[in-house]
Amino acid sequence: MKIRALLLGLIAVGITATAAAADPIVIKFSHVVATDTPKGKAADKFKELAEKYTKGAVKVEVYPNSTLYKDKEEMEALQLGAVQLLAPSLAKFGPLGVREFEVFDLPYIFDGYADLHKVTTGPVGKMMLSKLEAKGIRGLAFWDNGFKSFSANSPIKTPDDLKGKKMRIQSSKVLEEQMRELKALPQVMAFSEVYQALQTGVVDGTENPHSNLYTQKMHEVQSNMTLTEHGYLGYAVITNKKFWDGLPSDIRGELEKAMVESTEYANTIAKEENDKALAAVRASGKTEIYQLTPAEKLAFKKALLPVHKKMASRIGADLIEAIYKETGFDPSKL
Ligand code: LMR
Repeated sequence: MKIRALLLGLIAVGITATAAAADPIVIKFSHVVATDTPKGKAADKFKELAEKYTKGAVKVEVYPNSTLYKDKEEMEALQLGAVQLLAPSLAKFGPLGVREFEVFDLPYIFDGYADLHKVTTGPVGKMMLSKLEAKGIRGLAFWDNGFKSFSANSPIKTPDDLKGKKMRIQSSKVLEEQMRELKALPQVMAFSEVYQALQTGVVDGTENPHSNLYTQKMHEVQSNMTLTEHGYLGYAVITNKKFWDGLPSDIRGELEKAMVESTEYANTIAKEENDKALAAVRASGKTEIYQLTPAEKLAFKKALLPVHKKMASRIGADLIEAIYKETGFDPSKL
């Protein structure tokens, strides 16, 4: 009798274990770029590490290239709990009511990744992620992409060259003002629609880090691109706060470890991936790439500086000042 009970017990444990193994916690991670980009690769790295560290108790399903949701829908889906992880560009948080993130869109506010990291890894970055809590969102990390170039269907050597051009932008008021400052016509559009809009002439041009331009084949439908490096594009990795707080604490700990490591990975590969993409665009011979002279670049900086002042009341003058202080940017020295 005892042996029978023991056997039944063992079978029951076996069934429970099988049920547990067959029933992992599923994390849907939706994003809008190709897998072969800094964000795409980092999302896949997170999947690999999260599944490894939780020994399969968590399954991460990555949906790249807007296959699950487009820009606007993915934010709504996260708040509703239909997806658990996103990494939207920092330019896409304004419509959520968190305008502070648009500070990252200010033209030429960061002179390279080192400047940017002073902000994202410091107290200002931490404060910004905490702003998301009121929206039911937990900010987990900042992931890099890179610095944007303008592209269009005609050469761009001076700020005047974008006058009258219809330029696709992300949903950011700062980017809208940036285009207006150049007398261009900004058009907000989901990332997934940009290639076709460029191809059909719905818009004349856009701005992107090279990894995005190349992996979406935008260079094939843009005759000209200029290495302006006029603004930064990067991401905040976010989750649904209720979901995250409701995870068993040991699982959450392992996921946090996976996030720290995939963040290091993302921020290590970003520059290299963008450099590789630029080389590939060059090698394709499909678009003419123009390197500004220092004087020409200065002309873009001067033309775009007024955007900082004009957007101060929206973003917060104190926040802009705090960033100037962290990076040493001095607008009066331009
Ligand atoms: C864009 O819409 O241009 C970017 O935000 C896409 C992305 O996620 O890098």
